[in-house]
Amino acid sequence: MRSKVTVVGAGNVGATTAQRIYERGYADVVLVDVVEDMPQGKALDLLESGPVLGTDAQIIGANDYEPTADSDVVVITAGIARRPGMSRDDLLLTNMRIMQSVTEQVVKYSPDCIIVVVSNPLDAMVQLAQQVSGFPKERVVGMAGILDTARFRTFLAQELNVSVTNVSAYVLGGHGDTMVPLIKATTVGGVPVSELIEADRLEEIVQRTRDGGAEIVALLKTGSAYYAPSAASAQMVEAILLDRKEILPCAAMLDGEYGISGLYVGVPVKLGANGIEEIIEVELTEAESTALQASADAVQELVDVMAESGK
Ligand code: LAC
Repeated sequence: MRSKVTVVGAGNVGATTAQRIYERGYADVVLVDVVEDMPQGKALDLLESGPVLGTDAQIIGANDYEPTADSDVVVITAGIARRPGMSRDDLLLTNMRIMQSVTEQVVKYSPDCIIVVVSNPLDAMVQLAQQVSGFPKERVVGMAGILDTARFRTFLAQELNVSVTNVSAYVLGGHGDTMVPLIKATTVGGVPVSELIEADRLEEIVQRTRDGGAEIVALLKTGSAYYAPSAASAQMVEAILLDRKEILPCAAMLDGEYGISGLYVGVPVKLGANGIEEIIEVELTEAESTALQASADAVQELVDVMAESGK
């Protein structure tokens, strides 16, 4: 029997995520959006690609959550996206209200699912989804680190003119100005990157990674990135559905790891059939550790703003 995946939000990130999962053929997909007929149209269009691609998976669109019942994984992409000049945090209060109602519906119909949150501001949204769902922390995880790491690896591969597959890296911390690239753990063909790229140039590449989302927003003008974000989301869904126990940077609720408690922060986790099966603690330099703490503080600030606005 195929697994069942729901993707909430049929905008660019949601529809592209649904497409990537559907095309792999091992899961039926439900695409949900509030806009009437639109998710049904996108789903039907995708379904009609099945004969060409050779997939028998099913995909349907819906405006309510009944068809999502008993999903194994639910990916939440709902929310407004950034326009030029906006930070991810500018989205906070609007997307908070959307996240709240979406999570309630998701939990009602799929009480045993694993939730993957993609909406921005990511770290605050995943924290909220976990609270609202009442799910154990292992079953609510946020997508950001894979995307940030992919951008970093892309720029490093370009710089050194090598295959992206030879660049291994981890970008931890929040999805925003507080992301923390682990330079010591970044290697190219096994060689530490600091031996290959001068410190100043490396810092420029790190900064471009931090600004990676804004760089795409500035080019697209009417929305934010979706090809790389959907690739990252699909990788997480696959790690869960196929129980790959893959170590990936994701937003996870920490419980004392890295000296942080009760907050979602981007760290390497082992992702498998049970969701977050382990939080991997890598050794950080003092500067990296301080930067990760600053990341956690930034998440806490947004969590406080949300709590304040709900009063
Ligand atoms: C980005 C947005 C989606 O990083 O957060 O592109």
